[in-house]
Amino acid sequence: MEHFHNPQKDTGHYSNDLRYVLSLQNTISAFEEIKTWKGYSITPLHSLDSLASDIGIKNIYYKDESSRFGLGSFKALGGTYGVLKFIHHALQKEVGDKVSVKDIHAGKYSEQISKYTVTTATDGNHGRSVAFGAMLFGCKCQIYIHSEVSAGRQKAMENLEANVTRISGNYDESLRICIDAAEKNNWHVISDTSYEGYTKYPRYIMAGYNVMAEEIVSQLNNLPFPTHVFLQGGVGSFPGAICGYFWEKFPNNNIKFIVVESEHAPCLIRSAQNNQMTSVDIKKETMMAGLSCGEPSLLGWTILSKGVDDFITISDASIPESMRLLAKNRPSIEAGESSVAGLEGLMQTMNNKKVAEKMSLDSNSIVLLFGTEGATDPEIYDEIINTT
Ligand SMILES: Cc1ncc(COP(=O)(O)O)c(C=O)c1O
Repeated sequence: MEHFHNPQKDTGHYSNDLRYVLSLQNTISAFEEIKTWKGYSITPLHSLDSLASDIGIKNIYYKDESSRFGLGSFKALGGTYGVLKFIHHALQKEVGDKVSVKDIHAGKYSEQISKYTVTTATDGNHGRSVAFGAMLFGCKCQIYIHSEVSAGRQKAMENLEANVTRISGNYDESLRICIDAAEKNNWHVISDTSYEGYTKYPRYIMAGYNVMAEEIVSQLNNLPFPTHVFLQGGVGSFPGAICGYFWEKFPNNNIKFIVVESEHAPCLIRSAQNNQMTSVDIKKETMMAGLSCGEPSLLGWTILSKGVDDFITISDASIPESMRLLAKNRPSIEAGESSVAGLEGLMQTMNNKKVAEKMSLDSNSIVLLFGTEGATDPEIYDEIINTT
């Protein structure tokens, strides 16, 4: 495990500059919209007390996204909302300001919408969410996947009527191909990562992710508040959104944020070490497919660079074991490969006294984890769970 304590951590309040990147107001708007969708229901927040006591902390809360909108991951909150926001804006441009989201849901503009094509690069989960949005609202969808995305994840997107193209390189290359193709064909990129000149839809997508945070706050109700939040990072949009939300909403709670990455895709820890956004080459694909990203998201990184206390990387070695551990929990928890990264990061930290001390993790700590996906590729999941 590699560990880096962030000297740039800002202990002050969430600034107006950061509010421009992502604000509670963005989250509230997303929540108001998303909770009206058919199939919306609050996902469970499990309390893993016995596991917590086994590893020497007070409690673990585990937000379980395996059932989100039947799509198997938290990404269902982001991409679908991004597609809706795009359609709304495009129609307002084409038809006029009178176009309302309610009319879009009612199918009033289905003819215009059917002419739009949304596109994205993905390792599976985000693409599934964009494809779901395209199907729900009636536009076309072109997805780019890289060489290592599993056949099961490809099929899941095709089942949602997306056209899926597999390229020969890695995720970062699939994104470049997607952007080029969009420009040539007048398609519309709905990406979950942001970069210079492209931040509008990733911001909405991050706001959509924060529906999880809104739910957690209501689920915690009178329960003790988390002292630490472990967040698994790919491009950093998800951890950036959650970190920004809790920082802005609870400025005095002194929550510690820890980002966990795969050792094969350490772009966020390298960015922290260099104190500037840093890309890495993906030389080996991690089994945590959702975390296999070499280029940080601009918006995500802007929040993480100041909001995160510690960055760590983990290997794939114990991921299957952690998945089986959660499957055996009562109630049983379906957790995919990327889902257990936070738990794995926590357990490895607790095995490293020096790092645990640096993070002030001890028997009084209450850790919030995000089970970001379920069995998003059921074949791979079953194989892992049934191996002893
Ligand atoms: C299941 C899962 N968890 C975590 C992440 C990481 O999110 P981000 O790339 O926004 O950092 C992803 C990204 O695809 C994912 O699919």
